[in-house]
Amino acid sequence: MFCVNHHTTRTVSHVTGPLSPHSYQNDWDITEEEEGGSPTTAIKNQRAVSWGTATAAYQIEGGWRADGKGLSIWDKFAHTPLKVFEDDNGDIACDSYNKIDEDVAVLKQLRVNHYRFSISWTRVLPDGTTNYINEAGFSYYDRLVNALLAENIQPHITLYHWDLPQALQNVGGWENETTVERFKDYADLVFSRLGDRVKLWITINEPYNVAMVGHGYGVAAPGISFRPGTLPYIVGHNLIKAHAEAWHLYNDKYRAKQNGMVSITINSDWSEPRNPYKQEDIDAARRVIQFYIGWFAHPIFNGDYSETMKTIIRERSLAAGLSKSRLPEFTPEEIKRIKGTYDYFGFNHYTTVLAYPLNYGNLQHYDGDRGAGTVVDRTWLDSGSGWLKVTPFGLRRILNFIKKEYGNPTIIITENGVSERGPIDLKDYHRSYFYEKYINQVLKAHLLDNVDVRGYTAWSLMDNLEWATGFAERFGLFYVNRSDPNVPRVAKESVSLYSTIINCNGFPDPASGPHDCLKPGPEGNQRCSDSSSGGKNKPDTMIN
Ligand code: BGC
Repeated sequence: MFCVNHHTTRTVSHVTGPLSPHSYQNDWDITEEEEGGSPTTAIKNQRAVSWGTATAAYQIEGGWRADGKGLSIWDKFAHTPLKVFEDDNGDIACDSYNKIDEDVAVLKQLRVNHYRFSISWTRVLPDGTTNYINEAGFSYYDRLVNALLAENIQPHITLYHWDLPQALQNVGGWENETTVERFKDYADLVFSRLGDRVKLWITINEPYNVAMVGHGYGVAAPGISFRPGTLPYIVGHNLIKAHAEAWHLYNDKYRAKQNGMVSITINSDWSEPRNPYKQEDIDAARRVIQFYIGWFAHPIFNGDYSETMKTIIRERSLAAGLSKSRLPEFTPEEIKRIKGTYDYFGFNHYTTVLAYPLNYGNLQHYDGDRGAGTVVDRTWLDSGSGWLKVTPFGLRRILNFIKKEYGNPTIIITENGVSERGPIDLKDYHRSYFYEKYINQVLKAHLLDNVDVRGYTAWSLMDNLEWATGFAERFGLFYVNRSDPNVPRVAKESVSLYSTIINCNGFPDPASGPHDCLKPGPEGNQRCSDSSSGGKNKPDTMIN
């Protein structure tokens, strides 16, 4: 599906060789002038990257009770006073349930190769079980998939983006191991209905957030915070099992016929030592990484939890007088069954932190186990979200970390993006800046460090319900006017930047210009006209 007709990418002049992970050199202070004004380096044989954008069901669909949809934990959480900023909720959201044509039109405008969206479990299985299948709900996803394929946009489906059926929560939710079976049944049904056309799957989005934000800090559904030293680990354990069971199911029952790829999307910040010359800060930065990306990636890519997590949590549990570790153990059979349950590494990334050791005494909490505090560098640019500082260098570093730590997997970046808050302004220069810098780092990882990145996905297609911060933080390439009954999508300026990057498959070298791919509009749309694409402009050629 790629037209690799543009063989160059812009790189900064001081990058001469591959980055070694853990090198922790302080090079985040590259000035804008250095980055922007450096000589260009022509890199031949640019490999294919699929470009896309993403959303999630609860954040965009609305139709919360339409056509027999059941209630999810997010319906309940958002309808509980004071849980979401200004008591916003996803009842209508971007009304995507009624706007397939509009959504596909803006995807076309972006010229994306793939679109990542999630299925609302309760829209297809109102009580979470296969006792009753809601055909009207399925019809929505069926029509959406067909509309995308008709425009040559590959659907990339997330099965679980945080909206557990409330009926399953009522019997313990992810704390209850029976949810693993329910998830497998749900996955089975969706693979059987859509897998003839959908070739890219994500089982679970960001297990860290489900476990820790939902069941540790309690600021996302189901909003539990009273057992922060145990519950997140139990939930995480069951999420890993649920993912592995869905992967095996696909592998055994569907792969031969459907020939798709299934994985999990793991999120993580990158972490640098606050003082790169202090060993204890370097150790703290490594712990932050092992407790974040490593919590889920280690069992799935390497087998079992990391020694770091196992040792620290066991020692701190025993020291507090408990009889065993708060981190559940996998049996040897489970370790084997979980290891290798991936077809690619789905990765969400936004920002970087600076770590230092912090002793929480005997506080039985994930934060105490991790034993690190984090700060940010005050020169890093802000965004609309307190936790998100603009740190493009961290993306290249963590991609290199993934390559080294997890056996050089194929990586699809399934989310990356930036927010704003305050008055609506379609001139979102900060977003264009963000995408240009972060994508350049992705291309450096890809082309200079040989990290096997095959996909990049911008979060998000449009402004949507940003979970507990409601509609106040806006990550969209398109603004959604929710005060207009038609809920129109309106392009922000970054749409033109991102669609040009897509059209050019990166950043063309100005020295070898002019480049047709830089021209706006259809005449510049050369993406598919290059003979080097071999006429293979088909959705199912994206990653394979
Ligand atoms: C989630 C998205 C969310 C985004 C920005 C990710 O954690 O998967 O649903 O909107 O980050 O916060």
